[in-house]
Amino acid sequence: MDSILVRGNGPLHGQIPIAGAKNACLTLMPATLLSDEPLTLINAPRLSDIRTMTQLLQSLGAEVTSLQDGQVLALSSHDIHNKTADYDIVRKMRASILVLGPLLARYGEAVVSLPGGCAIGARPVDLHLRALEAMGATLELRDGYVHASAPGGLRGGTVDFDFASVGATENALMAATLARGTTVIRNSAREPEIVDLARCLRAMGAQIDGEGSSEITVQGVDRLGGATHTVVTDRIELGTYMLAPAICGGEVELLGGRIELLEAFCEKLDAAGVSVSETERGLSVTRGNGDIRAVNVTTEPFPGFPTDLQAQMMALLCTASGTSVLEEKIFENRFMHAPELMRMGARIDVQGGTATVTGVPKLKGAPVMATDLRASVSLILAGLAAEGETKVARVYHLDRGYEHVVGKLSGVGADIERIKET
Ligand code: EPZ
Repeated sequence: MDSILVRGNGPLHGQIPIAGAKNACLTLMPATLLSDEPLTLINAPRLSDIRTMTQLLQSLGAEVTSLQDGQVLALSSHDIHNKTADYDIVRKMRASILVLGPLLARYGEAVVSLPGGCAIGARPVDLHLRALEAMGATLELRDGYVHASAPGGLRGGTVDFDFASVGATENALMAATLARGTTVIRNSAREPEIVDLARCLRAMGAQIDGEGSSEITVQGVDRLGGATHTVVTDRIELGTYMLAPAICGGEVELLGGRIELLEAFCEKLDAAGVSVSETERGLSVTRGNGDIRAVNVTTEPFPGFPTDLQAQMMALLCTASGTSVLEEKIFENRFMHAPELMRMGARIDVQGGTATVTGVPKLKGAPVMATDLRASVSLILAGLAAEGETKVARVYHLDRGYEHVVGKLSGVGADIERIKET
């Protein structure tokens, strides 16, 4: 397992290109199952999660070809001979559950392993299952798998989410495109990745209204065609790298960044004393000479502050002057980066879903352990600003969601390298 060595090296300057969104691509790829015509995805990120989704789709019989060094994915599903998503793939990546809705909608049957939990929480899929039942599917849980069937095809229905679940909205939206009649999805998630999925499905011939709002209406059609779609910019990678000049000082331009992807996050950066401005090619982030000010953060579904940036924001607030309170309202166990940051001298008190961070003038480099995708990059951000050397172990977590992190950060002056461990 590789590690990453980071040494505090002062202010950063330059440009960082932002890739296509992992969490958009992971729902756009299963959309191929809805049609027997080719789906081409442009601006796809080069990540291990994308390779896992590729393996899963290929295990079902889909063709997935990676072109242009992985930035273009050519998919087609004219020969789906297997409707079972096996546990050995699904356990590696929860997003595998997103093949359930499309398989059910197109073939009237699907057997998908329950994803199991992960480091940040139990991650149930009850909302996914209830949504599909509302469209006439019958579901049985057996031997750790969901056995889903809709022999006469899905029918339009009303889906009422208790919680604006991203994945459940994506499964319901994809399934509804081929259901007979009209489906209304209420309290739907509003994330930009869902808007991106709706745009792609519409290009394939789906009839969708309201994406991005909390009510989506879908008029089912008999079949969908192919499409070529450009994956939306990754707002979580964007926010992550915006925090690099914020925590180290300097000025960095994030190519492809757009403020409307991260308004709540940008408001918090502004309150903390970090300036963000739009440029012709993206966003420029500058940390003035002043201290970082403490701010309070509560994670919420979009358009609120993204849970996927909570760990990274905590790293910044560890160096703020004053005390910040972070409330994690989306996942039940998403503060595992806190004990690792405390090894670097951070002062953090975690009580259930609330972390109280008292800023310190300087963090100290230390050996730390990545526990999940976003925690791993939070430790790298802390290492960029710390005195001395930080060694982040188990960076395979990082490879799931960040392409070329060493190249992107060293390109703006960070002292960072990846070391192979036996
Ligand atoms: C998506 O996960 C993202 N993953 C997550 O990003 C992100 O943190 C999350 O949305 C919230 O924004 C992908 O898009 C692949 P949810 P998802 O359904 O769909 C509970 C990353 O770092 N819930 O909105 O699983 C669930 O337990 C990852 O890139 C149910 O109770 O998120 C959680 O507490 C991490 N029942 C909350 O809702 C369900 O059926 C949010 O889940 C579904 C979810």
